[in-house]
Formats: sequence, C-alpha cells, structure tokens
Amino acid sequence: MRLSRSFIPTMKETPAEAQIASHRLMLRAGLVRQTSAGIYAWLPLGFRVLKNIERIVREEQDASGAQEVLMPTIQPAELWRESGRYDDYGKEMLRITDRHDRDMLYGPTNEEVITDLFRQSVRSYRELPQILYHIQWKFRDEVRPRFGVMRGREFLMKDAYSFDLDYAGAVVSYRKMMLAYMRTFQRLGLKAIPMEAESGPIGGDLSHEFIILAPTGESQVYYDAAFEEIDYLSRGAGGFSHDSAADLHRFFGEMTSHYAATDEKHDPAKWAQVDQTRRREGRGIEVGHIFYFGTRYTKAMNTTVAAPDGTHVHPEMGSYGIGVSRLVGAVIEASHDDAGIIWPDGIAPFKAAILNLRRGDAGCDAMCEALYAKLGRDALYDDREERAGAKFADADLMGHPWQIIVGPRGAAAGMAELKRRATGERVELTPNEALGRIGCSA
Ligand SMILES: Nc1ncnc2c1ncn2[C@@H]1O[C@H](COP(=O)(O)OP(=O)(O)O)[C@@H](O)[C@H]1O
Ligand SMILES: [Mg+2]
Repeated sequence: MRLSRSFIPTMKETPAEAQIASHRLMLRAGLVRQTSAGIYAWLPLGFRVLKNIERIVREEQDASGAQEVLMPTIQPAELWRESGRYDDYGKEMLRITDRHDRDMLYGPTNEEVITDLFRQSVRSYRELPQILYHIQWKFRDEVRPRFGVMRGREFLMKDAYSFDLDYAGAVVSYRKMMLAYMRTFQRLGLKAIPMEAESGPIGGDLSHEFIILAPTGESQVYYDAAFEEIDYLSRGAGGFSHDSAADLHRFFGEMTSHYAATDEKHDPAKWAQVDQTRRREGRGIEVGHIFYFGTRYTKAMNTTVAAPDGTHVHPEMGSYGIGVSRLVGAVIEASHDDAGIIWPDGIAPFKAAILNLRRGDAGCDAMCEALYAKLGRDALYDDREERAGAKFADADLMGHPWQIIVGPRGAAAGMAELKRRATGERVELTPNEALGRIGCSA
C-alpha cells in the first residue's frame, strides 16, 4: 500500500479520552475509530491485524480438530427462555423486538444456539465427540466500556463448544482446547498463562483463564516462570500432540503442576514454595477463558443422544472463548515503547515500511519502487511529501517489524538501511540483502 493514497489517519496529539497505552496507540496509529461508546470501526491498519490474529486462531482451532461454523449475531429470545437465562442475563443483553413483535437479541454468547443446532441433527454417541467453533461479533452492554477494544460493548470472539458422551470424553476435549490455546498464544508472540478460575457448581477444576502480564491489567496475578520455558509448538519428543490422549494427559499435568493464580485464588503459602528466581507477578489481562459445564444446557434444552447401551443421555459440554478483538489491544499493551507499537512478526499489518526520504530524487524513487514491487502487499510504502523526521516517527508509531530506509546518498551508492523496530538496530545493506534479511526472496 502507498501511504500517500492510504486511509491511515495517524494523529500527533494524544487523544484525551484514552487512558491506557494500547488505546492511545490504536487511535494515534489510525487502527480504529470509536463510533459510539464501546463500539469501534476497524480501519485498514487495524483490520489487517484483526484478520491476522483471526487467521492464527482459526489455524489452531482447525488443527485441534474443531470445525468452523458461523452462527448469526441475532438470536431468538425463545432459546434463552428454554435455557432459563433470558431473565438472568439482565441489562448486559441487548434486546430487540422485530416487526412481528417477536423478542430477539444480539448474541452475547452462543451456548443456546449451538445446543439447538446440535439437537436438531445429532442422535447417536457414534457422532460424538464434536467441537464446533465460530468467530463472530458479540454484544454485551457493559456498564463501563473502557480501554478501547479491550472492554468494548461490541467485540469479536472465537467461541468453541464441545459435546461428549461422558465426563471422560469432556476432559479430553477440554485438554485439546487448552493445548490449542497455548499454541495460539505462542504464535501470537504472547506469554499467556492458564490460571484456574471460578467454575461454578459443576465445573470442578475445569475452568481456566488465560492471562498475559501488562501493567494495565484488571487483576493481580502470580505464576511460575516454568510456563514461559515450554515450547507448545513442538510436536516431537517432549512435545504435545492433540491426537494423543497420553500427550494430552501429560500436557494437562504440566499446566496444572506449576503455580499460577489470580488474586482471588492466590495462596501465599504455596507461592512461597516457588523458587525466588522463577516468581513472576504483576497485573494481568484475560485473553481467553475455557470451561466445562457438563449437562447444564443439554438438560435444560432437552438434548439427548443414544448411548451404546441404548439409553438416552444428555451430552456433556464445554465452552472455549478467545477475545480476538481484545487481543489487538492486549498485544500492544505487551509490546510497545515510547515511540509506538512494536508488532510481533506473525500479526503485523505490514512486514515492512519502505521510507523514501527524498521523493523526486531519481535514485530514491527507483530503489523504493523496485523494493515495493517485490514486497507487494507485505509493504507499506511511505511515498509522501513529508520530512524524513515525520516518516521515521510514523513508521515507529505504526510499529512495522522492519523499516527499509532509502536516502539520496545511500541510493546513489546502491545501498539502503534496514531497521529492526524491536531492537532499533540499523544496518546498511543492498536492497536484495535487505529483502533476504526480512525473509522475502529477492
Ligand atoms: N467486553 C469485552 N470486550 C472485549 N473482549 C471481551 C469482552 N468480554 C469478554 N471478552 C473476551 O472474550 C473472552 C471470553 O469471554 P468470557 O469469558 O465469556 O468473558 P467474561 O470473562 O468477561 O465473562 C474473554 O476472555 C475476553 O478475552
Ligand atoms: Mg471470562
């Protein structure tokens, strides 16, 4: 994309309404704009990041064996009356009446709809287990939407639902999702820690929140650094596969053997036993949440399947959420500096910015155009009539992992400068060497 022709409205001033770094930077770098309280429009730069996060989430869900569907945002109140949640949900639910006076709602979550879809089609234990997911907008009329996309009213969530014949099966589905989550967060460049959460009357120990450290987090958290040393992506010896019950068992054992707790569940005596050098503590942001709730919905909604012995049983369910739009803010909270955003490579809107420091200089223009032709949609080409200083500042603000800087003196000698945003390191290279360094074959 050519910056001169793009819709990336960056701002020099810090917007007064933004209290935390990610919110400020998302507004300043032109990722989003608020249209009403807690509701945001995604502009090209932000939308690219949202799609990149969504892609990684999707790939890991698919790899775990979950199947993608797409349920509607608007749901009939009828299903929620059946589950008994219609009145309980209270003011957070946006209720709508259609022209025929039917009660509808904008879905805050999808347990009812998925259970209804399941009961329409699945009859036998032979069709189990099933894990279905979708990536869809939710609406919750939060009392205090704040911190930009981190606590919005409208937000994008990946929510998955598992159906199993019995508890033993539900445990396997739960562990599969937990592994998919750890792999997802590692690929996003985040250290997310699974922490046991309140699970209600039937959850047992099967409720975990996935939390990343950031100074603006909403709760105080404590964990053993052992979590950070595990490579969740490795599948070989010592690694974990979704398809092996033994691996999943070992994996879950590992996730629950190291200390990790939010302040509600914190146990100072156990914490004291964690090696000093491995104690990590700070504010935490919840980026995902998984929980098992047994037959809560299948019972209320009269959903059964035939078991091997011919009886009819209520399938056991779990649900598994990731805050896709919240993650855009959460990644920025975890990865920025005074100058702006520092995108992890896997989700950056553009791999590289090409900075033409003197537009109109034949050498600069030619080198930049050639680089831009090779990088294509991976590059944002700053071809504006602007001072060099403004271009440096905008590139740092937008946070592209790489900057290829082309000035008149270098261009005349056939050289460009390559800057790594995360470290600030700059080296002089030929354009082809620079392309090779950022992983684009020349
Ligand atoms: N208001 C919100 N804005 C953005 N993301 C949200 C919001 N509420 C929940 N999420 C994301 O969706 C995930 C799953 O939601 P859930 O656990 O049902 O939410 P909560 O913990 O708020 O009840 C959360 O871990 C979080 O990442
Ligand atoms: Mg939660």
